[in-house]
Amino acid sequence: MDRGKLKEIIKDYEGKRQALLPCLHYIQKKHGYINEKVMSFLAKELGIPRVDIYGVVSFYSMFSLQPQGKYVIRVCASLSCYLKGSNNILNTLKEVLGIDAGETTPDGKFTIEEVSCLGLCDKAPAMMINGKDYINLTSDKVKDIIESYKKEKES
Ligand code: FES
Repeated sequence: MDRGKLKEIIKDYEGKRQALLPCLHYIQKKHGYINEKVMSFLAKELGIPRVDIYGVVSFYSMFSLQPQGKYVIRVCASLSCYLKGSNNILNTLKEVLGIDAGETTPDGKFTIEEVSCLGLCDKAPAMMINGKDYINLTSDKVKDIIESYKKEKES
């Protein structure tokens, strides 16, 4: 669980509470999710109630409580994207990958997440895969994009 690294991060912050987000970012990036053990450890080290840490983890879409796939697909569900057909984009992804939003494919490769505005509203509908932007999406574009990721993983 990287206790040593977490303690290092905590040491860098004078006000211990400020270390919470950097610690969560570190764990999320390294392990792809934040589990119970990590939350309990941080609660003890930072003197923050565990329920508050849970609140932070569940509030921010960049943190996950479940193991995620190699490729995390974040589909915007906010107004501009919704008006431009984000539902179709999401349905195409569900159909192509055979999973629902919030789920990971059985092979552990893809996770679909429905998120709020990605800041790409003028190019709606939009999604991100591992931080890479995909804009002005159509169902066909989404199928091609997923196909390219599937090929990438095979090579
Ligand atoms: S509403 Fe979808 S990116 Fe802003």
